[in-house]
Amino acid sequence: MSMQGVIKSITTTQILNKKGVEKITMLTAYDALMAKIFDGEVDMILVGDSLQMSFFGDSDTLSSSLDAMIYHTKAVCSGAKQSLVICDMPFGSTITPEIALESAIRVYKETKAQAVKLEVGLEGIKSVEKLVGNGIAVMAHIGLKPQFVRSEGGYKVQGKTQENVESLISLAKQIEQSGAFSILLEGVKAEAAKQIAQSVKIPIIGIGSGVDVDGQVLVWSDAFGFFEEFKPKFVRQYLQGARILRQSVRQYVQDVKSGDFPNTQESY
Ligand code: KIV
Repeated sequence: MSMQGVIKSITTTQILNKKGVEKITMLTAYDALMAKIFDGEVDMILVGDSLQMSFFGDSDTLSSSLDAMIYHTKAVCSGAKQSLVICDMPFGSTITPEIALESAIRVYKETKAQAVKLEVGLEGIKSVEKLVGNGIAVMAHIGLKPQFVRSEGGYKVQGKTQENVESLISLAKQIEQSGAFSILLEGVKAEAAKQIAQSVKIPIIGIGSGVDVDGQVLVWSDAFGFFEEFKPKFVRQYLQGARILRQSVRQYVQDVKSGDFPNTQESY
């Protein structure tokens, strides 16, 4: 079969090779519409379990299900042909290496995602090994882990003590040895994040972790101003999306009520 005209997506090896060469970019997306806009602009698209908050309206990510992540990942994959798509493993779907493998196999079989992401502490290293050993590409999420918000009593910035920095460096090294292709580092003091990024050869994608890491990720609705509940300190808002959209919605309502829409050109 001819491969002419087939657009190839970026690979995990290409992501790995960007470390020290160029910064890596990633945005979240939850549907084909956004994925199509971001595709080819950013290196990677994450179908994050943040969708439980910014898409579904919950106050944390814990209720997200594997079925929901698979549904949204399918949608994103149908819109994204060039950027590497990563499916976030929801709370409870990776609690043992065996369950993690079963869950990740579903993701690989039912979607076209090239990798999965899992929130990992020391207890999660064996799950990373299990997935990688079975041919599944893994991004490990360390630092502030939103799935631990209830057990830890809030979202706590990491890397404030030398002991914590050392344990994050040690965790990052073990994740590297387990074969993960990258690490997502969330909510870590900038100086600590720099040390972590320097201690491993795999790329560190930061969120709220300063500039001295190998790339950045933002939740799309934060970056473009559609999530209005709160704006974390680390977010740069590139668009006031909600405000602009609301104005347009009001215009539409006004046009309908006044009889201005539809006009003759917009009618059969
Ligand atoms: O679920 C998500 O969107 C995340 C963010 C930290 C990027 O993991």
